Amino acid sequence: SDFAVGRRRFLEREISSRATPSSFAIAFDIDGVLLRGGLPIGGALGALRRLYDDPANPAKLRIPYIFLTNGGGSTEASKAIELSEQLDVPVLPDQVLLGHTPFRKLADKFKNQRVLAIGRCEPDIVLRNYGFQHVVNIDSYVHEFEHIDGLARFKPWNQSVNKVVADLLPDHLALIAGVFVVSDPYEWNRDIQVICDVLRSGGRPGREGVPGQPQPPLFFAADDMDYQSVFPIPRLGMGAFRVGLESIYNRLPGAPLHSVSYGKPQLMVYKNAEHALEEVSTNITGISAEVSAVSKHSSFKSIYMIGDNPTTDIIGAKFAGHPWFSILTRTGCYRGQPISSLYDADKVVEDVEEAVDFIMQREN
Ligand code: G3P
Ligand code: MG
Repeated sequence: SDFAVGRRRFLEREISSRATPSSFAIAFDIDGVLLRGGLPIGGALGALRRLYDDPANPAKLRIPYIFLTNGGGSTEASKAIELSEQLDVPVLPDQVLLGHTPFRKLADKFKNQRVLAIGRCEPDIVLRNYGFQHVVNIDSYVHEFEHIDGLARFKPWNQSVNKVVADLLPDHLALIAGVFVVSDPYEWNRDIQVICDVLRSGGRPGREGVPGQPQPPLFFAADDMDYQSVFPIPRLGMGAFRVGLESIYNRLPGAPLHSVSYGKPQLMVYKNAEHALEEVSTNITGISAEVSAVSKHSSFKSIYMIGDNPTTDIIGAKFAGHPWFSILTRTGCYRGQPISSLYDADKVVEDVEEAVDFIMQREN
């Protein structure tokens, strides 16, 4: 119709009057690429500044980029503030994709049910922020049951805690309907014990499980066997915790453990990342989704994944296919050791500075 033609012309004019969208975008892994134990590595500060209009004053973003980490434990908004401080560039919450970010989509399913949150930092605050209504942190949950952690009295850091038995909860909240491992667990023996209790009892520790009753669902934000922190050798990650839990659980009577793990290298993570990068690009150019739908530049020709872990960052980008291009640094889990060709990156570099250098040259 005339109206449709007119509207299209209007949108095309809109596009030509705005900044040209970038034809490429970048997803940065955090641990082992940009930071180690919270401190910048590999020329990270300079590399990020190159993605702004004026590197001396990184206020206006030029190249769309996001942080795509399997880590977590705080909300995307808090993480954005923390990253801004650590990396000295203005980071927006929309640029932060954490291992547990996809948990947001599960909030509705557990609307009227109680869930257990596990891991370092603030796993319960993370879930509440996603819209979960009834969340209990494992640190509090253990105090609802006397002696659930059989080793608690040998742990000096527990001595000052007053043991409390929770007030009677309304019936529908008396059981745990789902267990969420949000960030790296830091009390493995307690957490494995309590997760086994919750899952084997159908959500009510201390009660005998009924044979054949379904196990409450168990979710992991990521499945990394290890990750690079401050210690020279990578540390055991959430995937290692899962393996430990699963091996123990499956030696106990009853059905084998069922769990779902998110995080890289899952395809869904890379699809979410593409979407997030489109949003970042939209914010740079001011071109709305409706406008960009008629633009030739609506999607990126290349999206670079810069990572240090061949078994998560790199293989995930390879599986995701076009337009992903994987770059492996030697600043984290990978240090040049022989690895299966399955994990071959499109490009191997020394550090993130060299990675961004390579991208800028390839795109010019
Ligand atoms: O705990 C963090 C670790 O699992 C991975 O972090 O940034 O290397 O994906 P990252
Ligand atoms: Mg990493």
